[in-house]
Formats: sequence, C-alpha cells, structure tokens
Amino acid sequence: MLPTIERKGDSVVMIDQRKLPSAEVYVTCTTAPQVARAIKTMVIRGAPAIGVAAAMGIALGMRKSRATGTKQLATEFQKTCNLMAATRPTAVNLFWAIDRMKHTFADAAHAGCSVDDIRQRLDDDARRIHDEDIASCRAMGAHGATLVPDTANILTHCNAGALATAGYGTALGVIRAAVEQGKKVAVLADETRPFLQGARLTAWELVKDGIDTTVITDNMAASMMRLGDVDLVVVGADRIAANGDVANKVGTYGVAVLAKEHGIPFYVAAPLSTVDLGTPDGGQIPIEERSDREVTHVGTSRVTPEGAKIRNPAFDVTPAKYVTAIVTERGIARPPYASSLADLARAQP
Ligand code: MRU
Repeated sequence: MLPTIERKGDSVVMIDQRKLPSAEVYVTCTTAPQVARAIKTMVIRGAPAIGVAAAMGIALGMRKSRATGTKQLATEFQKTCNLMAATRPTAVNLFWAIDRMKHTFADAAHAGCSVDDIRQRLDDDARRIHDEDIASCRAMGAHGATLVPDTANILTHCNAGALATAGYGTALGVIRAAVEQGKKVAVLADETRPFLQGARLTAWELVKDGIDTTVITDNMAASMMRLGDVDLVVVGADRIAANGDVANKVGTYGVAVLAKEHGIPFYVAAPLSTVDLGTPDGGQIPIEERSDREVTHVGTSRVTPEGAKIRNPAFDVTPAKYVTAIVTERGIARPPYASSLADLARAQP
C-alpha cells in the first residue's frame, strides 16, 4: 500500500502530491509549521489525509517544544492547533482531528500527566488516527462493494484514493474492494480541473494497482453517461452536512445532476469524521477559494489572457436530493439523511 504519510522518528514524511505522476518525491517535515505549509500548498491533500497530517504535525510540534511545564506546553499546543486550523477551511476532517488532539491533551493534563507523558499520548493518538483511517477505508470498501454490480463502469471525480487518506481510499476503496471480490470494474476518471487530481493522482494509483482506467476531461462526463458508458458514480467528500448535502471537489455537483438525469446511481463514500452534524445544510459549509494561478496556468504555461477575471472555488455542494446513498465505515446511509446519518454517527463502532 502507498505510504501517503508516515511518522518517521522526529519527522513527518509525505509523498509530494504536487509532483505526481512525473516524480515520486518525498517531503520531510521536521517542524509543525512545515506540516501546516505542506497542507496549505497541497503537498498532501484530500480530507482524511489532511486530518492525519494535522494530528501528526501537532504531535511533532509538541515533541519538538522546549516547554518544561504543562502550562507552557498548553500555550504552544493551542498555537499549533490554530496554525493547523488556518490551513484549509472546507474539509471538516482537519477540524475533527484537531479537536480529537485537544481532547487527548485535556484528558492527559486532567490526569496529571508529566509533559513527557502528554507528548507520548499525543504521539500515540496521532498514530491511532492514521491507523483508524485505513481501517475505516477498508470497512467502507466492504460496505460499498455491495453496491457494485459484477461488471461495472464506474465514474469518479477528483482523487478519493490512498493518496487522499492514510491508505486504501474512500471512493477508490470501494472500487478496490469490488476488484478484490473479483468484480470486473473499469474506471472513468474525470481529470478534475484545475489541479488535475483525477488525471494525475487517481489514474496514477489505479494504474499502479492494475485497475482498468480511462481518463476523460471533465466536460466529457455528460456524453459518456448518455452513451451508456457509466453504470454508477462514486466520489469522496470533504464535508457532509447533517441533512446529507455533500461538499466535494468542484465539479462534483455537475456530475451528480447529470447522473440523476441519466438514472445513474450517485454514491458518496466518506468516513464519519467527514460528517458534520453541527452544520445543518450545505449552505453553511465554507468553500475555499484558491489562487488564480491554478486556473490561469497549466503547469508553467499561461492559458488565459492578462486582464480576464478569474474564479477558483475549490469545492462545490451537491444537494442531498442527488445523492443515492452515503457509504461510511459503519454502513450505508440512505435518504432521509437527517436520520440515517445521525443513527450511524450514534451507532457503536
Ligand atoms: O483540494 P483537494 O485535493 O484536497 O480536494 C480533495 C477532494 O475533494 C476529495 O474528493 C475529498 O477530499 C475526499 S478524499 C477521500
């Protein structure tokens, strides 16, 4: 399995996703600010993966801190959490992981742990968040594979694979599990302008795994559906509101509307750490606007004239009415999502 991110001694090592597929280069972060920068600049991306990175970055920051007392460590801890929280606004897994590390710190401090013991507990929890994410992806894969017919052409958007998680993937986890069960699966990967996560990352992962993969530009999905070349859609998510509205990579909404028009099931695969029961609907989800340069340039070549205005929202919201089902590690939620998601979130792990 691909090592998306690893804690190695006193550093956090991650594959540089900006360089794929041309080069497999690893970035070594030795401080928490370096991890925060890696998240912001998309060295690592994908909702669950940036949650894991934030947790590892916080643990690393505390490991490197010179604090001698709990109070001093708590001040540095809060600053480091704030730094991680300021990296990217949409994926709720980031805030979920920061909150979990805050609870770990508070519990350890409350139990009267020494500074060294608090550091150890933070390290241990960051590792657990990493390992639990892989286990969640495997469980999602097992549930989601039941939705895949024995022979299926599956369209996906962006990259919700091993690279976007600690390993195995959410949407690509469903595809991997179906393939492991012997189903005959062919994948259509939207290229996903402007950052090309589909063309560069999804295709790279799937080809490496020997899974039949065809890359299309985003504007080809409609005619592929009309031609009958898509049996189902499966995508990941960055945040799912309590009513089942789904924020995911920009372009997902269009794919969902198209799927409904063509009578094609549209599935979302995401861990419960992506479900934000505190956000009632998609209208409340903050949407990140990224740099104009991602749109004005392809690689180093400029493709727009100087003077044209640019918009670059990195995500969009798909209303729940377009979502056939949401696959989580605890099972499959069906509409109405307000009750099915809440039930799964409350269920025993
Ligand atoms: O901007 P990115 O590359 O971080 O966006 C990633 C996505 O939109 C993914 O589909 C989502 O995070 C799900 S990843 C399992």
